[in-house]
Amino acid sequence: MSKILIKNISNLLLCGDHLPGFKRGREMQTDNAMQDAYLAIEDDVIVAYGKMDEWAGITDWRGVTIIDAENRFVFPAFCDSHTHTVFAATREEEFEDRIKGLTYEEIAAKGGGILNSAKKLANTSEQTLFEAAKQRLDDMMLSGTGAVEIKSGYGLSLDAEIKMLKVIQRLKKEHPMTIKSTFLGAHAFPTEYKSNQQGYVNLITKEMLPVIAEEKLADYIDCFCERNYFSVAQMTEILEAGKQYGLIPKVHVNQFSIMGAVQKAVALGALSVDHLEEIDDADIAALQESNCMATLLPGCSFFLSIPFGNAKKLMENNVAVALASDFNPGSAPSGNLLNTFSLACIKMKMTPVEALNALTINGAYAMGLASSHGRIALGAKANVIISKPIGSLARIPYSFGENNLEKVIINGAIVKDEG
Ligand code: NIG
Ligand code: FE
Repeated sequence: MSKILIKNISNLLLCGDHLPGFKRGREMQTDNAMQDAYLAIEDDVIVAYGKMDEWAGITDWRGVTIIDAENRFVFPAFCDSHTHTVFAATREEEFEDRIKGLTYEEIAAKGGGILNSAKKLANTSEQTLFEAAKQRLDDMMLSGTGAVEIKSGYGLSLDAEIKMLKVIQRLKKEHPMTIKSTFLGAHAFPTEYKSNQQGYVNLITKEMLPVIAEEKLADYIDCFCERNYFSVAQMTEILEAGKQYGLIPKVHVNQFSIMGAVQKAVALGALSVDHLEEIDDADIAALQESNCMATLLPGCSFFLSIPFGNAKKLMENNVAVALASDFNPGSAPSGNLLNTFSLACIKMKMTPVEALNALTINGAYAMGLASSHGRIALGAKANVIISKPIGSLARIPYSFGENNLEKVIINGAIVKDEG
């Protein structure tokens, strides 16, 4: 059995055995901090925590790794609830096109974008996709990510969607991070279905979904509901079909336009609605009455130079907000949640504590991991970050582009150690 004791922690954040499943609105201002604390891990589980002066000590010291966290902050590893981490190739040629003035939508209209990624993925083997994605996950752990949702959606054919989902399934088995899988066949219409959209919707609902359900290849179902992509009616048909197979909706909505997709997705029982760069009062009203997580993706806003989601307005209206990286080759080519943390504070005016809640407890909820991840609690997964010596949590997002994490523990193992 492996044992880790972290002692003399100056601030242990988000700890408590009775934290809510997620936090909404003003609750996101609470940090659930304990000063001068210890935390004990056995194998992959948190087995004890408390104040140093109440610590009973260790009777059996054999094999215990002791970490002194004086002047350090300790908190749960980040939970990245929206990523497209499996992809075949980067798309920096589109990046240059955008520098020259084309928009994301204009690039997609001329065959770039998601269809560009699909073309590249069709000719890439499962093994190659696996190795590249594994490397990306390894890098993400170094910036503190301990759980990640990964979507398909660069296949857009039965075979290629299954290929992507099988890569995710293998990552689930072989990678120390906790991984959730989302079927995003409805990411874009393949060229051959441009004038037969219903034909592609049928392919998703009648051919892809039965195989995916049979082989248990997905936990969630997604749809990119947006002008020039899937309409609200098409999204509804796809999500309803997914629900028949037990897949819970988590959707891309309101990235560029407001179409009533938020209300519809909430009504369909979506666990999260993601992007929300554009939002209106009806969307907010639907969210504040629901347990649906509003997931904002500031890396995408930054990279595409589109508006940032209005986190403040959402929180003022008692909505629960999560933050995720959206890691993908087209609109957010970074899985580094420390960047996301900084952007949320700098560009969206989230306080460091609000952003930390959005990256941990709320991110965990948005991927169905509320009971085990994104919190320091007895029995929770041993996914823990230990900062470098810092005076306040704010130092982490403040030092943008820097990594002030000294140690990262994922699944009970120290995967980053700069101490
Ligand atoms: O979340 N908006 C849709 N999907 C991705 C981008 C996909 C791509 O450009 O490859 C996103 O931003
Ligand atoms: Fe996305």
